[in-house]
Amino acid sequence: MQSILGIETSCDETGVAVFHPDQGIVAELVYTQADHAAYGGVVPELASRDHVRKLPGMIREVLDRAALRPAELSGVAYTAGPGLAGALLVGASVAVGLAQAAARPAIAVHHMEGHLLSPLLEPRPPRFPFVALLVSGGHTMLIEVSAVGRYRLLGETLDDAAGEAFDKTARLLGLGFPGGPEVARLAERGNSDRFDFPRPMVNRPGLDFSFSGLKTHTRQLIARTTPDDRADIAAGFERAVVDTLVVKCRRALRETRLDQLVIAGGVSANQRLRQALDTALPGQVYYPRPELCTDNGAMIAHAGWHRISEGKDDGHIAVRPRWPLEELRAPGQAAVGSRSSRNARS
Ligand code: KG4
Ligand code: ZN
Repeated sequence: MQSILGIETSCDETGVAVFHPDQGIVAELVYTQADHAAYGGVVPELASRDHVRKLPGMIREVLDRAALRPAELSGVAYTAGPGLAGALLVGASVAVGLAQAAARPAIAVHHMEGHLLSPLLEPRPPRFPFVALLVSGGHTMLIEVSAVGRYRLLGETLDDAAGEAFDKTARLLGLGFPGGPEVARLAERGNSDRFDFPRPMVNRPGLDFSFSGLKTHTRQLIARTTPDDRADIAAGFERAVVDTLVVKCRRALRETRLDQLVIAGGVSANQRLRQALDTALPGQVYYPRPELCTDNGAMIAHAGWHRISEGKDDGHIAVRPRWPLEELRAPGQAAVGSRSSRNARS
């Protein structure tokens, strides 16, 4: 017992994993949907249908690899939000159904808490308290983390998320989706000093971010240059995002007087961001291995283990497409995904 099955379906990755507190990640599978590339962004209806198609087989396979029957699980954790409503409902329905059949609790997990706690899955985990930079396709947040569920929002983006800025810039540069890895690859052959890029909000006090001006700047730059300049533009853009994130992370540590920084979410896979933070804050930065940065089932199983006390086996299916991280409480203090009237909101 004690094994938790985790199911992630908030966007375009189907993730399934088993986590055990002593053994770590026992088995895991991630399937990245490819259909969206042709549209330059995630198409919600296609995402839901692909989750329906993939999820049952992936669950069977992961349980087989872990040599577990559903009744041997301690609980079934699933991403209850934030994310695409239809995609979330697929994971929630399957998780609650499986949990009911096995007479085990279903545990509603907040996707960003999954990301935030994922560095704890590494051999050299951070200790509480720490500052977390969460950078994904939908979020850019700095959070003071005192314990599981004790989160204070220090700053967030006022417009685009960091990953979204990468995705939109990739589209402007004629690259594929998701844009982050594509921009990073092109930037490898570019000169980041050739073009001037703004460093949004770094000279203003506070810990908020803004990335939409950077995107506009890139668009104008592309309009007055040639395709041969694209690698230099990608490198300059990436450097501007990285520099901005580094400045704000240092400021957050200074203001909170904390000395550990966790980075998580898809953009934390970015090599230049990791190197720049390691240089600016030697020995103080904690991040998950690259495959745990982007969406996966292991982080959901792991967060679910921390929240097992809130699991329910009543068959109630609830998702919260919008769900502020700051609403979470320490495990057991208030029901996660509690059935307030906001639950049905999308
Ligand atoms: O956490 P994630 O997998 O999904 C969300 O919760 O949004 O993050 C996906 C985002 C995308 O915007 C993608 O372009 C970005 O993370 N990303 C990267 C890299 N890998 C993924 N951005 C920059 N550099 C990367 N290597
Ligand atoms: Zn994510």
